[in-house]
Amino acid sequence: MFESIGQTIEQLAEQHYICDRKLATVVYLAWKMGKPILIEGPAGVGKTELAKVVARVLGRELIRLQCYGGLDEAHALYEWEYGKQLLYTQILREKIGTFLAGADDLRTAVERLRQHEDVFFSESFIVRRPILQAVSADEPVVLLIDEIDRAEEQFEAFLLEFLSDFQVTVPEIGTVAAKAPPYVVITSNNTRDLSDALKRRCLHLFIGYPDEERELEIIRLKVPAMAEALAAHAVEVVRRMRSLDLRKAPSISEVLDWAQALVLLNVEMLDRRLLEETIQLLVKYERDTRQVEEHLAWLLEGSDRPQPGASEGLDDRGRSRSPAGPRPPAPQAIPDRHDMEARQREHAARYFGRDRLRQDAPGGEE
Ligand SMILES: Nc1ncnc2c1ncn2[C@@H]1O[C@H](COP(=O)(O)OP(=O)(O)O)[C@@H](O)[C@H]1O
Ligand SMILES: [Mg+2]
Repeated sequence: MFESIGQTIEQLAEQHYICDRKLATVVYLAWKMGKPILIEGPAGVGKTELAKVVARVLGRELIRLQCYGGLDEAHALYEWEYGKQLLYTQILREKIGTFLAGADDLRTAVERLRQHEDVFFSESFIVRRPILQAVSADEPVVLLIDEIDRAEEQFEAFLLEFLSDFQVTVPEIGTVAAKAPPYVVITSNNTRDLSDALKRRCLHLFIGYPDEERELEIIRLKVPAMAEALAAHAVEVVRRMRSLDLRKAPSISEVLDWAQALVLLNVEMLDRRLLEETIQLLVKYERDTRQVEEHLAWLLEGSDRPQPGASEGLDDRGRSRSPAGPRPPAPQAIPDRHDMEARQREHAARYFGRDRLRQDAPGGEE
């Protein structure tokens, strides 16, 4: 039970989840108001983990629906167990035969069978998928609908009815309403916009990268063997790295892997060689690796390299820079369409071979 915002922060911390007041407020209000939470944010910032931790705090079972392209009602709600239905009709063949014996023609036989079809479309033959499981559970549960942006928009529309009154309708059985409303957490990695209708039904929360203090606290909690000074330096490096123009900036999950690796390697101090050797734990794209390699010294030492065109202490729109905030070494151009196309071609070349690609390239790049 969440009794207050302060207590929510403590309860989550007891389960090794560090959060600020803003996040705790949404978690607390969702509980009090019985509304779903919709969490958006980059991958690896603790969205899924929050649902798991809430389930532990509430002492509830966690039911998870992982979304993917093509997810439909049969995998989210329920489906009929066709194999079992078939097996039962095989076993009951003789019984069904005698039952239909008196029917003179096909129409009569079908009609007679139809009157009893509810036997085969009953609770005994239904496969409950996560949403139906959550609704029909005897004890209230936490329902995690994870990465909804992977599913199609139609799926969002399908969810609306469920989210409004926590009930679902199975035509053959009727409406199943939750005995106690589940605590629902929906997450999105922000790969596409979600519908306004979905947002309206939820308490919305954006989780971004944590501030320095919170990130350090998470490392202390999850990688206690790491020395304090090393952890502080690692956090600094990662914060600078996030200000580079990377395709996928390191998230908390990557930072924790990196911290773990540094402990395993008995590292006492970060240096250029070590950072070079462990970059792959922080960034996962070759282009990002190259970017990081170009800025190793700045990442490690944060030596002030003034930005061309920007006055000291001000950003390029003339707003004052946060004194604690990391400063990127140079303004990064937003990749234009040609850049992107060149990158796609480079990528494709690796798979299909350069010669074939050259022939297929638009405009023939001879
Ligand atoms: N606030 C936090 N406190 C503690 N651990 C966190 C926090 N945020 C993220 N983590 C850790 O980071 C990792 C990635 O979190 P996850 O929930 O899988 O990210 P997401 O679902 O946003 O992609 C997990 O191992 C989790 O333990
Ligand atoms: Mg996740």
